[in-house]
Amino acid sequence: MAKLHNKVAFITGAGSGMGEAQARLFAKEGAKVIAADINVEGVKKVVEQIKSAGGDALEVEIDVSNKSSVEAAVNKGLQQYGKIDILSNTAGILDGYAPTLETPEDLWDKIININLKGVYYVTNAVLPQMIEKGQGTVINIASIAAFVAGGGGAAYTAAKHGIAGYTKQLSFDYGPKGIKANAIAPGAVETGMTKQIFEEGSADVMEAVNSVPAGRYGQAEEIANVALFLASEDSSFMHGAIVPVDGGWIVK
Ligand SMILES: NC(=O)c1ccc[n+]([C@@H]2O[C@H](COP(=O)([O-])OP(=O)(O)OC[C@H]3O[C@@H](n4cnc5c(N)ncnc54)[C@H](O)[C@@H]3O)[C@@H](O)[C@H]2O)c1
Repeated sequence: MAKLHNKVAFITGAGSGMGEAQARLFAKEGAKVIAADINVEGVKKVVEQIKSAGGDALEVEIDVSNKSSVEAAVNKGLQQYGKIDILSNTAGILDGYAPTLETPEDLWDKIININLKGVYYVTNAVLPQMIEKGQGTVINIASIAAFVAGGGGAAYTAAKHGIAGYTKQLSFDYGPKGIKANAIAPGAVETGMTKQIFEEGSADVMEAVNSVPAGRYGQAEEIANVALFLASEDSSFMHGAIVPVDGGWIVK
């Protein structure tokens, strides 16, 4: 049987990269997918493709850094499908690898508001109906920047460390209420976020990206495969884990 039969998944950042890959895979595994993104065109395309492959999906516009936008998007999803079983907080942006002295306050606020506060907004909007059912799964997309320096700049690394802590606290507080929360810490993965960096990257950047045990950067589908594992019953005893999927980046 499909691994997510009868499940409803709400995925942020579903218009591109890892969010898109999860949307497609979860739909293939039987989930009804609420594909949420600030990029409406991107998410529409993904939903059309899911539907033409025989799946069920709904596109919703969301700005994860805006509470009323988040609540409207979650309500639209709930109106359509009546429940959300799986939440994947995937939306995020890079900070240009800026050290703190080169991080103006507006950049700091933007990164924290989208990459960290956005996770809090969306989780708080989805969680109550999960708790009511006594069942739900949350997957937060962190980064190797949740473990080590150099995967982003000051704001990005602070936000991703924040996601790791937030995920552990979610497990601690709501695991006993039937909520399974885990995070994935991807290494360098080819997506909309990194395509240009990988195409135009200096020898130094590409050396850093490729000098991992895997010897290459990853693909969005390789993150989605682990997200599926975390979304499904296969990971039934996993709570509060921050799972590196990084070609071995953090063991270098
Ligand atoms: N690509 C990598 O190498 C890498 C490595 C580690 C972690 N990550 C993390 O993976 C996640 C997914 O990124 P990706 O690599 O797939 O990049 P991506 O740019 O392909 O996708 C990110 C998506 O998030 C959406 N988004 C941005 N701001 C938003 C907002 N305010 N509200 C709603 N949606 C918004 C974008 O429109 C885009 O569709 C991010 O959290 C990123 O930090 C990426």
